Amino acid sequence: DLGPYRYYMQKEIFEQPRAVADTLQGIDSIMPELFGDTAWRVFNAVDSVLLLACGGSFHAALTAKYWIESIARLPVQVEIASEFRYRDAVLSENTLVVAVSQSGETADVLGAVEVAKQMGMAKTLAICNVATSALVRECALHFITRAGIEIGVASTKAFTTQLVALFLLTLSLAQVRGKLTDEEEKEHLRALRHLPDAMSKVLALEPSIIAWSEVLTRKENILFVGRGMHYPVALEGALKMKEISYIHAEAYAAGELKHGPLALVSAEMPVVAVAPNDRLLEKLRSNMHEVNARGGKLFVFADVDCGLSPAPGIEVIRLVEHYGPLSPILHTLPMQLLAYHAALARGTDIDKPRNLAKSVTVE
Ligand code: F6R
Repeated sequence: DLGPYRYYMQKEIFEQPRAVADTLQGIDSIMPELFGDTAWRVFNAVDSVLLLACGGSFHAALTAKYWIESIARLPVQVEIASEFRYRDAVLSENTLVVAVSQSGETADVLGAVEVAKQMGMAKTLAICNVATSALVRECALHFITRAGIEIGVASTKAFTTQLVALFLLTLSLAQVRGKLTDEEEKEHLRALRHLPDAMSKVLALEPSIIAWSEVLTRKENILFVGRGMHYPVALEGALKMKEISYIHAEAYAAGELKHGPLALVSAEMPVVAVAPNDRLLEKLRSNMHEVNARGGKLFVFADVDCGLSPAPGIEVIRLVEHYGPLSPILHTLPMQLLAYHAALARGTDIDKPRNLAKSVTVE
């Protein structure tokens, strides 16, 4: 039942505050047991983390690399499942293998987990939206996101709830390793509980995002840029845009612009920047200046307190608050809305984009 919505994707975008609240339901404290009865023993024995996923889920996993390294202080590798399974990787048996998948049926993810096990890595954890899936059966530990059934082919609520699960994993690993004080635990839990509210406020920016989509939908190419833990958000924004609007979009870590893609920038090449108020903002600002100086039109998603103002060639939408380590979750929402409205204006089949399937059960 679509209710007031035109497409499932739109409905699922607006369900995200509920999906995140459900995923957090009943979690009053951080503990490894959120991931299974034996998780404390497993987490205590690992010396590194390997995240395996495909597509959008791979972008969630990439975000987790930034979190786990900075908060739990463990080395992290993130691999596209279809690459990992055919690579002669060298990894310690004490690696925690985390497979991230909405469906839990993606053939390459299942194949990659099998390869990891054959290599002697028995510490496996599934982060999955389907409790009865093959992936959950294959992994020793699991966390089930409570996004609910996702119908739109382009993943939205599954992605943001994966991020919530990966943040809980980060905090649990940090706790086992003595890197999380009680104060920090309380502060992170408070921020997590406030997320649904903060997300609703970001979704309320839809009218301004529609105005931008009307410009972007007429373009054939769009660049997305971000830095640090918002680089994966830019990747996700470009993937969503390609997938449902069929506009060619690419994402770059903003510091890479001058190493090649800046050559593409002209008045015809809009650049969408994910620009939260973090310690990389000044660096990003200089990357944006490089674009502006070459006539590129910037569409900047900033935070309320960022000091970035609109200027000739620079449009700015401000999110309502800066959200610390959870900021990628908030900044993902405008990416989804931008792609959705660009696609809507182009009249594509948003819930069933051409050539794609919801669950990729073949290689
Ligand atoms: C992007 C998207 C796909 C999936 C990918 C992995 O919007 O939906 O890229 O993320 O096919 O699927 P799961 O998460 O089911 O393994």
